[in-house]
Parts: sequence; structure tokens; C-alpha cells
Amino acid sequence: MDGALRAQFPVLDTCVYLNSNSTGAVPRGVQDVLAGYWDTLRTWRDDVWGGWHEGLDRYADTLAAFIGAPAGSVVTDANLSTLLVRVASCFDYRPPRNRVVTTDLEFPTVPFVWNAFRRYGAQPEVVGTGGPRFDQDALEAAIDERTLLVCVPHASFSSGAVLDLPRLVTHAHSVGALVAVDAFQSVGIMPLDVTALGVDFLLGGAHKWMCGAATAFLYVRPDLLPGLEPAATGWQAGDRALTFQPSTGFADGAQRFAGGTPYPLTSLISQVGLDLLAGVGTEAIRAHSLRCTRRIIDRAQAAEIPIVSPVGPDRGGVVCLDVPDGEAVKYRLAARNMVCSWRGWLRIGPHVYNTLDEIDQFMDALEQEWQGTRR
Ligand SMILES: Cc1ncc(COP(=O)(O)O)c(C=O)c1O
Repeated sequence: MDGALRAQFPVLDTCVYLNSNSTGAVPRGVQDVLAGYWDTLRTWRDDVWGGWHEGLDRYADTLAAFIGAPAGSVVTDANLSTLLVRVASCFDYRPPRNRVVTTDLEFPTVPFVWNAFRRYGAQPEVVGTGGPRFDQDALEAAIDERTLLVCVPHASFSSGAVLDLPRLVTHAHSVGALVAVDAFQSVGIMPLDVTALGVDFLLGGAHKWMCGAATAFLYVRPDLLPGLEPAATGWQAGDRALTFQPSTGFADGAQRFAGGTPYPLTSLISQVGLDLLAGVGTEAIRAHSLRCTRRIIDRAQAAEIPIVSPVGPDRGGVVCLDVPDGEAVKYRLAARNMVCSWRGWLRIGPHVYNTLDEIDQFMDALEQEWQGTRR
């Protein structure tokens, strides 16, 4: 673990921070971006927008490179939900190909959006066992010639279980279905190469494993772009947006998935963390993550704390533990400056800036809680 990298994240001086699956640490370089933003507002001139558009494009293209995509294939917006709705608004849902296959391990926005699209003819089909794991065989069995889109997470927000994406994409494409992946819980902590995967859409966001804040992104497979015309859109998606003339069609590239006036600040802030992660490299990040999660698993097994997440190499970045009265335990740990999250299970999410020593400190505290709740 590189001390210079760790020194970039001030929150680490205040606590043992193992909460990156919920909200990642933000680097100190963000302070200069915020100061610069205030200077921009303080001395406002109209040509500021030119620089802001460059900043937005730079962030989107850095994201593209980070996930193995070409420049121009990624667009950003406020949150993943907004971008997912834009994807959903591209299709006409005429039977027989109107099914949208999802799992029961989605972040709540996914079922919410697809249920809303029933009014346009979409037929959501939810596959799952009610448990913390994906049933990949059942999922693939549900994908057939009636499937328009498979909309699944790469890693579950609640359990950390990971889907085998290469296998899934190959099967979906063999029956003519498109694949949209919610990678919010994997991008930044697991290597992702969208081009090698052949995935059609991939969505993620900055504020967890990406060390950024308040922005999300959408990748669209470049050869699909010319044929996709989102209905939930805005003037920035047009081919003449920055001329302020009525557009004659959609912009080239992923920009056609833009909405209205963009949010430059959140991209400018998030660039700082993304550059740090890109400097470390996704393979090195994953190797460190596996070391940290292994330590959590070993300590939990030794203390006989039930583990919900997969314990093999198919695990994501988080380890979920089944601790009685887990929410209260989370608050008691926070009072001791040990920070994690709770969503039905205690979720422990170390990142590249954490050390094995921090994991041990956290697990020592958790073990004390665990012994206390068992008495
Ligand atoms: C898997 C996953 N998808 C989506 C989101 C969030 O979506 P949105 O950016 O629309 O709030 C989260 C967490 O906040 C998540 O864990």
C-alpha cells in the first residue's frame, strides 16, 4: 500500500474508513477544484462554458479509457437512474421482443424504472432465488428470442455477488438480446473492459469506488449509437446544441444521450479521483482489494461470523456479514471511528487506500461487538 496515495485521502486521518461501496473517499486535490470553481463564479464571463465543456469531455473520455472504451462512447449526467431511463426510452417494446430480464439483486432504481416502462409495453421479468447469490443458469434460461434487453448488475449492491458477464453477454447476443450492465458496484474496484466484453450499455457512478462525487456515466457500444434515438432527452443531445440553433438530428457519439445543461462541477471534482485510480491501474486495485477482502473473510471465519458474500475469487469489492442487530452495530462501530454500512447485512468495503492493519483494527472492534451480541 503506497503511503503517498493514502495521504491523498484526508478522511483516512479521521477514522478507519471501510465504506467505499457506499461512499468512497475523495482526494484532497478536490479542494483546489472547488476553490477554482468559486473563482470562476466570482469573476464570471460567458466564455467560461467553453472550458467547462472541455472539462466535461475530458472526464467522459478518461472514463471511457478506464473501462476500455473509445473516446466519445461515454456520456455523464447527475445519476445512474436518469441515464437508465434514457436508455429505456430508445425502444418501442413491440411484442414479441418486449421482455426486459433483470434479477432480484438489483439496486431499487432498476425495478422501479422497468415497472414504469410497462405503460409503453415493456415486460420486466425478474429472475432470482431471494438469496444473496445470482442464479446465472436461471438467468440465462430466461433470456430468449422474446428478450429485448437484459438489465443486470455486475456486482450486487447488497451482497457483493458478481455475475459472469462474458458468459451472460455471449448467451444474450446469441438470441439477439441487448445487455445493459449496472456497474456502479464494480467499476473502480474490478477491472472492466467493455470492448472485450461486447456489452451494449454499461452504467456506473463516481461516488463509490471511483473516488468522485455526484455524477454518473453511461457507455454505449459505438456501432449501436447511430441507430439509437432516446426520447427522454434534451437540447444537449442535438447535433447543433452549442450553436443554439434548432438541431436537425441527434449528436454523434454518446452525446446523443445527454439531457439539458450539464453539471460541470461534479465532473471536475471526480476527475481528480479517477486520475489517481487510473495511475494505480485496475489490476493492481483488484489485487489489493482481494487481499483486503480475504483478510475480512479469514477473520470472520475465525470468529464464526456468518459471511453472506461469495468467499471465492468471484467476490466483488465488499464483504457482507450477517450480524444480529447489524444496524445498531454499525452505529456503535461508527462511534468508535470504524466506518462501514448496513443494508440488511453489515457491508465492509475496503479500497486501494486501505491497509491490512486497518482491516485488523476494524475486525477487532467487530469481534468485540459480535461477542457482545452473542452473550
Ligand atoms: C448498484 C447500484 N446502482 C445504482 C445506484 C445508484 O443509482 P443513482 O445514481 O441513480 O442514485 C447504486 C447506489 O447508490 C448502486 O449501488
